[in-house]
Amino acid sequence: MAQFLVTSALPYANGPIHFGHVAGAYLPADVYVRYLRMTGNDVLYVCGTDEYGVAITLTAEQEGSDYREYLDRWHDEIKALFDRFGICFDIFSGTARCPHHTQTAQKFFSNLLKEGLVHDRVEEQWFSEKSGRFLPDRYLQGTCPDCGHEQARGDECPACGSWIDANRLGDPTSLIDGSKPILKETRHWYLNLPKIQKLGLDDWYTGKDPKRPHADWKSNVHGHVQAMLKDLQERPITRDLPWGVPLPDGITDEKGKVLYVWFDAPVGYISQTMEWAEKEGNPESWRDWWQNPDCKLVHFIGKDNIAFHMVVFPSMLLGQGDSWEGRKFNLPWSVPANEFYNLQGRKFSTSENWYLDNEKFFENYSADAARFYLLMTAPETSDSEFTWEGFQITNNSLLADKLGNFASRVLKFNAKRFESKVPAGDASCDGDPSLKEADRSWGAVGSHLGKNEYRKSAQALMAGCDSLNQFFDNHAPWKLAKSENQADMQKCATVLERCIAYLELLSRRLTPFCPDSAQKLRVMLGAVAETKDLRWGDEGENQPPATLSAGLSLGEPGVLFKKIDDQEVQEEIEALLKASKTGA
Ligand code: 2FM
Ligand code: ZN
Repeated sequence: MAQFLVTSALPYANGPIHFGHVAGAYLPADVYVRYLRMTGNDVLYVCGTDEYGVAITLTAEQEGSDYREYLDRWHDEIKALFDRFGICFDIFSGTARCPHHTQTAQKFFSNLLKEGLVHDRVEEQWFSEKSGRFLPDRYLQGTCPDCGHEQARGDECPACGSWIDANRLGDPTSLIDGSKPILKETRHWYLNLPKIQKLGLDDWYTGKDPKRPHADWKSNVHGHVQAMLKDLQERPITRDLPWGVPLPDGITDEKGKVLYVWFDAPVGYISQTMEWAEKEGNPESWRDWWQNPDCKLVHFIGKDNIAFHMVVFPSMLLGQGDSWEGRKFNLPWSVPANEFYNLQGRKFSTSENWYLDNEKFFENYSADAARFYLLMTAPETSDSEFTWEGFQITNNSLLADKLGNFASRVLKFNAKRFESKVPAGDASCDGDPSLKEADRSWGAVGSHLGKNEYRKSAQALMAGCDSLNQFFDNHAPWKLAKSENQADMQKCATVLERCIAYLELLSRRLTPFCPDSAQKLRVMLGAVAETKDLRWGDEGENQPPATLSAGLSLGEPGVLFKKIDDQEVQEEIEALLKASKTGA
């Protein structure tokens, strides 16, 4: 048994999240957590909304809303979507609502300052005289100093991908009010990443630190981080904004200085663990997750968050010195960063009406069908997409025709021939090639999940169903049942006993992917499911499930996955196209 602290990127409380986010950073984490728990590990899964940052202040202001009211609305809506998908966090709080957040983020800052890893400097920054405020980098547009692209943002260039020093942007315009900004002096605090690098960042990254030997980074992570580590620069970690975590007392008399959202947000993982620990009645237990070297820290993120989770946050953790009663923080053990997930060939975009209406979707389709399809198409190694046609095929041909059909034909047949009781089998099907193939496939489901290979694990689950359908077809129990011959009758009983035993195993293998349907299947299995608890177990690792006791009663057979017809799919596609054209 091992211990895992799993996090998913804190979504901004600044608008709806869509299926693309779910496929990238939340659903895979939920599946991983369910799998880890079923295999006997101790797991805590933490998330919440990211509630500071300039994007939030600006949109709330544009809307004329109070910041808090604005955040609460999006917090609730985002949480509701996760609930719809069956994504189960141990805590889902938020950086402005967590009672430990301000103090913890401030302590992080103060410790880094004490360690000499943060220093202040007065610099010029773009200021809008029209709005009377400093302009955040991303609200500036101008010419990229590296490639000359004229519509570069103040923080990065969409054409060449460089991180831009906003002061080097040519002929900037304020995107907030259209004015031409001026450069004005302001004091800010900087995180000295090159200095922290020498404290052990490279050793952690390369796995040379014996206390943190895991360095098996995904290739998209590795490509990005390797390049960054060759040329680390210091980074500003404060901003002039009316909303954010204020600098700790005693740092400055200047008003309106807050921590940069990317400084406080990852600390949110820790402060929300503290909140969870307090709610559990054991406030100090957060340390078992963050400061216990045996606990593995796993961050699920989208690829745009790699730099912060692989360089900035680990540096903040590493630079805490001895200020936490001498205990060190764990650094990430694994960062399964995913690529982007699109919708019918285009990026999801709420403003361009190119998204799936979450409410409407769940009125018509099940969360489990959506979960399975998103996992089958997970953007693990390259960008990927949701298509209505793909969703229909996955639902109809895989979930309904292979998996659901296997369950239904076995249970219906058994109800008819064996009065919904487990027949007495013998060893005559041991070593059957189709069953061996099913064992091999289902053995791979868990090993893929452990490596964050969701597509492969979903495929392996389906391959097992294929083999089992084949087993049923090859032995044709409906023919055996008609035979007068005793040996045929016995074979029929054995085939059914094996199928039911494999169905029970399927209900467990299916649980991380489709928890509701797996539960439904367990209800259909009645007393058979009650004989086994919901643990992953050894079966499937090239081992057949053990023989069931004869006579156990099964429940009512039912439908696990409903089919989606062609017309529904056509209507969905037409509605999407129409909305994107007319804005309706
Ligand atoms: O990219 C985003 O949506 C950020 N809100 C993610 C923050 S993750 C963490 F560090 F808090
Ligand atoms: Zn450029």
